[in-house]
Amino acid sequence: MSALESILKETRSFPPSDDFRQKAAIPGMEAYNALCDQANDQYLSFWGDLARELLTWKKPFSRVLDDSAAPFFKWFDDGELNVSYNCLDRHLPENANKIALIFEADDGAVTRVTYAELHRRVCQFANGLKSLDVQKGDRVVIYMPMVIEAIVAMQACARIGAIHSVVFGGFSAGALRDRVQDAGARVVITANEGLRGGKTVPLKATTDEAMDMGGCESIEHVVVYRRTDSEPVKWTEGRDVWWHQLVDKQPEQCEPAWMNAEDPLFILYTSGSTGKPKGIQHSSAGYLLGAINSFRWVFDYKPNDVYWCTADVGWITGHSYICYGPLGIGATQVIFEGVPTYPDANRFWRMIEQHKVSLFYTAPTAIRSLIKLGAEAPKQFDLSSLRLLGTVGEPINPEAWMWYYEMVGGGRCPIVDTWWQTETGSAMIAPMPGAVPTKPGSCTLPLPGIMADIVDESGAPVEAGKGGFLVIKKPFPSLVRTIWGDPDRFKKTYFPEEFDGKFYLAGDSAHRDENGYFWIMGRIDDVLNVSGHRLGTMEIESALVANPLVAEAAVVGKPHEIKGEAVVAFVVLKGPRPQGDEARKVADNLKQWVAHEIGKIAQPDEIRFGENLPKTRSGKIMRRLLRSLARGEEIVQDVSTLENPQILQQLQESA
Ligand code: WT7
Repeated sequence: MSALESILKETRSFPPSDDFRQKAAIPGMEAYNALCDQANDQYLSFWGDLARELLTWKKPFSRVLDDSAAPFFKWFDDGELNVSYNCLDRHLPENANKIALIFEADDGAVTRVTYAELHRRVCQFANGLKSLDVQKGDRVVIYMPMVIEAIVAMQACARIGAIHSVVFGGFSAGALRDRVQDAGARVVITANEGLRGGKTVPLKATTDEAMDMGGCESIEHVVVYRRTDSEPVKWTEGRDVWWHQLVDKQPEQCEPAWMNAEDPLFILYTSGSTGKPKGIQHSSAGYLLGAINSFRWVFDYKPNDVYWCTADVGWITGHSYICYGPLGIGATQVIFEGVPTYPDANRFWRMIEQHKVSLFYTAPTAIRSLIKLGAEAPKQFDLSSLRLLGTVGEPINPEAWMWYYEMVGGGRCPIVDTWWQTETGSAMIAPMPGAVPTKPGSCTLPLPGIMADIVDESGAPVEAGKGGFLVIKKPFPSLVRTIWGDPDRFKKTYFPEEFDGKFYLAGDSAHRDENGYFWIMGRIDDVLNVSGHRLGTMEIESALVANPLVAEAAVVGKPHEIKGEAVVAFVVLKGPRPQGDEARKVADNLKQWVAHEIGKIAQPDEIRFGENLPKTRSGKIMRRLLRSLARGEEIVQDVSTLENPQILQQLQESA
């Protein structure tokens, strides 16, 4: 049974235990409904009150929402604050010695950093950036491994008002170059190498490669954190600066730059339906409010919790639920440099036991791969510290959900399946764990203040059980402000005219059940979700056709047991169609090519060669057909409009 089929059949429901509910901040459906009513009745004061309660302002705001230039919304826009002040300084009077970060390195070494120490490190690095003349509004690209310094770098940018753009350390030189160029960044912060699963990742060498590709002329400095002892490190005098030399002798205090609520905090690139990733631009105040508020609601956060999110700061999850939400509220969290399968597949369970993790947040793909490697493994560990589990990034199949619930959570921990996106900045649809009964495979109900709905092409709500477009009908504080440098694309993509430009269109299809629960069914655009990572089919196609051997390529997804979706590429070579061993050899080369062009996460799982692709008489590639072919389904679509029907057999045979 496919994941989707089993999700469609799911009917079980799991209310929170009495014990969990009684201790929860939102204890039961009445409390949840009361918050929803409050948001419905007094939308602006609902958010205004939260912004006053949860954020510390330098200058209070007088207006909650300015929608005069919709869909370019402004929140709290005459207020001033600093995000790093909110994440660090304000905790110091009472919690200077509270542990902020428990860093577990790839090799298992553990380093603890208090709020006072993190504050000191952020201030020193912020002063270092200033000494390189980094100013308010400048863009700084962060291309780092998952180490303490990645968070220090992000917080330091926030402190001085520089806009960071984190690029996941697994991305290629080309991807790094594209993001540096689009953002017009002045500085790149990287490490000589990263360490993952006992292997090194050549971050500095890849940065050098990017800098030499053309397009990175805006870069004045490359700051290099020394993570490993490898020598020599290739050095460009005048441009390259060692992190440790930059912070050496810097003052331990750095006055935060007071920012307007709407000043951009960061840009994070994500895939869409075109070949060009979108620079998702987030605000300072609205974004931070979303991150902190959702963190306390969704995880039912309490001050003595030990929280662990296994994401990388290269993704939005690592921004909102490692760097900003937990630090904004003053939590203690584990951060992890390595991978779940090194030195063995017990790494997660061992770490939960060792650090007494109480809140654990990971991705369905990690759960599925760990089930495969040892379904009984968690039993060997004491996981009794856990009180809540979370998932994010893709739909979770009910089988994996049940395993997570019973094997990891011991049947006592609510599972919060959190639906959200890079664009929404914070969780949108997720159970309030002390209130909303969970159902395996459903992200359940919207958070109070999030007006999520499912509509048809005309924007009319669909009835229960019917699929449609997932939309959010009112702007909310943590929503993307624009696409960096491309406001038209922002408007067209997210506030399309079909809905009078009024609804935020998420890009997912979904349905609601008779209890109003949301069930996410998949993307409506040409975006794949591979292991919880968003990949544009066009991006992979562009990478393929950039290879000198390739004439044409079309990429589709197919269901995959562990990754959720797998990448299948149909390729036409300029030369004759390869077969047998030759085809395998060319396919391997092309897979490596894509890994080098974009990153290993985009590497096709399967490549099939044809003399052509199935096209209509007007020359349009029939992707629906390719999807059926990739899944090995019988072709039931109408092929009468197909210019070249014989091609189908060829592409079937080449599997
Ligand atoms: C897309 C957003 C949210 C942070 C990580 C991914 C899919 C995300 C869920 C979920 C079903 C989910 C959607 C969404 N997605 N969470 N709980 N259930 N699908 O952020 O890279 O911006 O991707 O991920 O398709 O649109 P992202």
